[in-house]
Amino acid sequence: MLDLLILSIWLMLPAYIANPAAALLGGGSPIDMGKNFTDNKRILGDGKTIRGFVLGSLCGAIIGLIQIWLAPSIAPYLAAYISQGILLHASYMALFTMPVGALLGDMIKSFFKRRLGFERGAMMPVADQLDFVLGAWVLTYFLDGAWFMSNFNFAVILTIILITPVLHLATNFIGFKIGRKDVPW
Ligand code: CTP
Ligand code: MG
Repeated sequence: MLDLLILSIWLMLPAYIANPAAALLGGGSPIDMGKNFTDNKRILGDGKTIRGFVLGSLCGAIIGLIQIWLAPSIAPYLAAYISQGILLHASYMALFTMPVGALLGDMIKSFFKRRLGFERGAMMPVADQLDFVLGAWVLTYFLDGAWFMSNFNFAVILTIILITPVLHLATNFIGFKIGRKDVPW
């Protein structure tokens, strides 16, 4: 159980880091350049900035790179019941697709939030918590399907779907408390 939990967080870390890193380091020009969509509402809104996207992705990739370096020494202690090779098969492609996919997923969600009339920062349960998981998985699946399939088995996927909302809400609450987020979700 604990192995599965640690493994799931380990695999998702580059994607998990991207969001709070974007919140901490974001700001400046919004990706949609302040423009409205055909419904006269913002395309994405001020919560999606170029700096947040770039620096968030970069932080996720750097964490992933550190993980690839650490993996050979950590793998023997993890997930003995899965395959020993699981963490040793590194993917440099995933360093890119996990954080970038995460923030793309977050961005696509904002697009639909605006279309549905949610203001920037408004809570949208489930979508707010799993958007970046789905984005990371879809992009990774398409660009390094072999790595995705060898790491994300059913148990891992289920664990991630269950723990991500909890981790996400906890992170956002901390972000709110330290004044980096306007709302605690
Ligand atoms: N952020 C950013 N650039 C991104 C993603 C996030 O600058 N690409 C920053 C913004 O300051 C944003 C904060 O991280 O307000 C929190 O992100 P999120 O909760 O995803 O955005 P919201 O402000 O809630 O906007 P939305 O309603 O569109 O989800
Ligand atoms: Mg939000």
